[in-house]
Amino acid sequence: MNAKIQRILSLRGKRPISQITAYDYPTARLVDEAGLDMILIGDSLGMVVMGYPDTTSVTLEDMLHHGRMVARAVKNALVILDMPIHTFDTPRQALETARRMVETGVDAVKLEGGAAKEEHIRAIVQAGIPVQAHIGLLPQKVREEGGYRIKGKTDEEAAALMRDMQAVARAGAFSVVIEGTRKEVAAAITAASPIPTIGIGSGHGTCDGEVCVFHDLVGGYPWFVPAFITPKANIAAEITRAAGEWAAELTLPR
Ligand code: KIV
Repeated sequence: MNAKIQRILSLRGKRPISQITAYDYPTARLVDEAGLDMILIGDSLGMVVMGYPDTTSVTLEDMLHHGRMVARAVKNALVILDMPIHTFDTPRQALETARRMVETGVDAVKLEGGAAKEEHIRAIVQAGIPVQAHIGLLPQKVREEGGYRIKGKTDEEAAALMRDMQAVARAGAFSVVIEGTRKEVAAAITAASPIPTIGIGSGHGTCDGEVCVFHDLVGGYPWFVPAFITPKANIAAEITRAAGEWAAELTLPR
């Protein structure tokens, strides 16, 4: 097994596993130098970098472009490239997409979906490409579901999420993101999971690790800040201040 994957697996239960998004060379290099365990080029770039209202307009070419930037920057962390909507509709298409993705230099791919994507994940894993699965709230379904809704609110939903985890683990995923899920349900899935779980918006301390969107963490996208994160910096204010200060100090020729 790939040494970077082995390292992530070995962290389970010893300390929380950290994962953060990055979409460009300097950010990826900085968060890698900060010692984060995994770096995800998430399709969230559609919103926080490209200015779309959700992730459903992101293309494979967009992801490959950003994947190359991040892969070039990172020395230590495990780098994961997210598969955008409609690039893994069938197992065959999923494998083709994953193959193109690892050509950028990333270590692994991620895809949204649980039991419905079991065969897709298996096809990629059998080709030797590590997969991170993603269950719970699936942002790529935002239009279909008419918004972002917390998952695991009923016993049926909680049981379906448990089955999703079992399916992606059976298919060979090395870890699973649990997004926007009731914290009790995320904790129960983690307790039952044979692979590390990585939470986001599913309560703190409920999963083996957590993932966050870089811009949410550093205050880089002030127009929307999810309720579950406390930003640790305010780079938006710094950018506005620095740009304004520089422009105000310009002088005309004498
Ligand atoms: O696209 C993304 O950034 C993600 C994370 C929020 C898990 O899928």
